[in-house]
Amino acid sequence: MVGTMRLAFGGVIVLLILWLYTRSNDAGLRNAAASSRAPASMSPEFKTLTQDMEAQRAKVMQLTQLVAKLQGSARMSQPAAANPAAAPAPVLPHLRGSMSPEFKMFPCISDAEAARLAKTHLVEPENGAPRPECDEVGLCACPGDTWIFDGRRCLPKKGSQWESAFKTLASKWKEVPFSLEEYAENTTSHVNTINKEGRVVSDDVGELSDEALLKQWDSISPRDTFTSYYASTYTGQRVLDIGSGMARQTLRFAISGAYTTHVDIYQGNLNIIRRIAKMKGISDRVTTIKIDGVEDLEAKLSKVAMFDHICAFGSLHHMPAVLLIPEYKTLRSHLRVGGTWLQLAYPINRMGPEMDFHHFGQMTDGERTPWAEWMDSGKILKMHKPGKFVVNWCGIVNKDEFVWLELIYLGEALA
Ligand SMILES: C[S@@+](CC[C@H](N)C(=O)[O-])C[C@H]1O[C@@H](n2cnc3c(N)ncnc32)[C@H](O)[C@@H]1O
Repeated sequence: MVGTMRLAFGGVIVLLILWLYTRSNDAGLRNAAASSRAPASMSPEFKTLTQDMEAQRAKVMQLTQLVAKLQGSARMSQPAAANPAAAPAPVLPHLRGSMSPEFKMFPCISDAEAARLAKTHLVEPENGAPRPECDEVGLCACPGDTWIFDGRRCLPKKGSQWESAFKTLASKWKEVPFSLEEYAENTTSHVNTINKEGRVVSDDVGELSDEALLKQWDSISPRDTFTSYYASTYTGQRVLDIGSGMARQTLRFAISGAYTTHVDIYQGNLNIIRRIAKMKGISDRVTTIKIDGVEDLEAKLSKVAMFDHICAFGSLHHMPAVLLIPEYKTLRSHLRVGGTWLQLAYPINRMGPEMDFHHFGQMTDGERTPWAEWMDSGKILKMHKPGKFVVNWCGIVNKDEFVWLELIYLGEALA
């Protein structure tokens, strides 16, 4: 009975949020402050939620307008047609990287285009393997849970490295990016890198003296438009960084006053984060969690409070989608309704037509990388179902290099 009432209440909240969202889009968000006023009959909790969402949306609009102004080519899918006078561009701190005059952000591709491209990668099944089914956003799946879709065909899970997925991942991801990425026209350069790959084994970095480690981390931690914008937006809020590596961007959020929880599958990466946090004097705002599977993630997150934002920067595409879906679900159950999901991934048009996800991973992240799966916005939304999100903005760096997107969580759809 209580469960049914909760479900019904949840349904009403989701419907109200959807109604508010549609209404504000129709009105072109004429005035963010005015539209955030909830009718007097609403509960205080609902008013706060609505105001939070409106405030968040207004902030993202500011970023949208700023980026569009700077680059002249960004298509942000929501809600770009607002009245600019209502949202003046924010004053951002020192910027570089994406502020480069040559930097361009391109429109994200449509779901139909992603679906079309996904089909061009398929090959005829062999050795009795089933044929994968691909949907309208290009998310392809194999029947049952004994097969893994590798971008081209179904492969047996049994006997593969995905039987013990997190062990496979940990053996690669002790080695993570540790360079500054500067975006310019059609290229990303790696600056201040210790070696030419721009990646390091975190245990080796752990051998550096405090002074050398801090100097190196400071030199590779980005201060570009996005990092600076989110750092200023997230002050005082709770941020979960999933697949944190060396937390190149997300520790900046903590430095600006956010409460960050960094989750990774390799302890050596988290040790570096703890040392940097201590030297920066922000240990009280920084938590680290090592996980060895999705159940472990659930158990450990259940002991901490809900998050305002979840960041997955270059992390949640390194395992097959069929295994990632439960991880997405666990993460979202720790995101408050109205919170944001910010993700950096690789778009489908970066992946060569002859390539499977294993080879795509080797191309993007080095030869020991077990997997990299393209993730355009429609696929990410689909993997989250029955979780409901709206795309606040989505852009592609360097035509096909990275897809960046921000989603807003609207809660779970009723069955
Ligand atoms: C390319 S690194 C990115 C690290 C960091 N976010 C950055 O931008 O520098 C990939 C990271 O994702 C983590 N990772 C890979 N698969 C993961 C998964 N399924 N769940 C959580 N973390 C994962 C790895 O441990 C590694 O730290």
